[in-house]
Amino acid sequence: MNNKIIIINGPNLNLLGEREQSQYGSITIEKLKENCTKKCKELNLEVVFAQSNVEGELVNMIQESRKKFNGMIINAAAFTHTSVAIRDALELFKKPIIELHISNIYKREEFRQKSLISDIVTGGIFGLGANGYILAIISMHKLLNNENR
Ligand code: DQA
Repeated sequence: MNNKIIIINGPNLNLLGEREQSQYGSITIEKLKENCTKKCKELNLEVVFAQSNVEGELVNMIQESRKKFNGMIINAAAFTHTSVAIRDALELFKKPIIELHISNIYKREEFRQKSLISDIVTGGIFGLGANGYILAIISMHKLLNNENR
């Protein structure tokens, strides 16, 4: 079945709820994981929800996902703006990828307005808060079931 997805979160997202609530709201990563797991269950998607602060670990995670998952939702956090290694790993995935940001990166500092991955992913969601994860899961479900057009 075409129903296995991974949600990858990059650095500092483990501290959601504590960091810059004006940008990221008050939700914790535990609650976010719970909400994502619930939505995936409703849609009959199997999900792994992962987070790492380490660039190399994220690269390994993305590489290993090639054989295990049908789709990926990624909030690469600060590495979005800096990591050629994450971009290169994503290019090897060859299946639907949704780029996600909780905040609207285009409304923020100039250095955040450049994403090194936007041009190689399937699509993106930004600025819609933690609810963006739920929207990304719904979109991924449609992508995997060819209902996106
Ligand atoms: C973020 C935006 C990034 O610029 C930032 O470094 C993050 C989170 C977001 O979800 O809005 O850590 O990816």
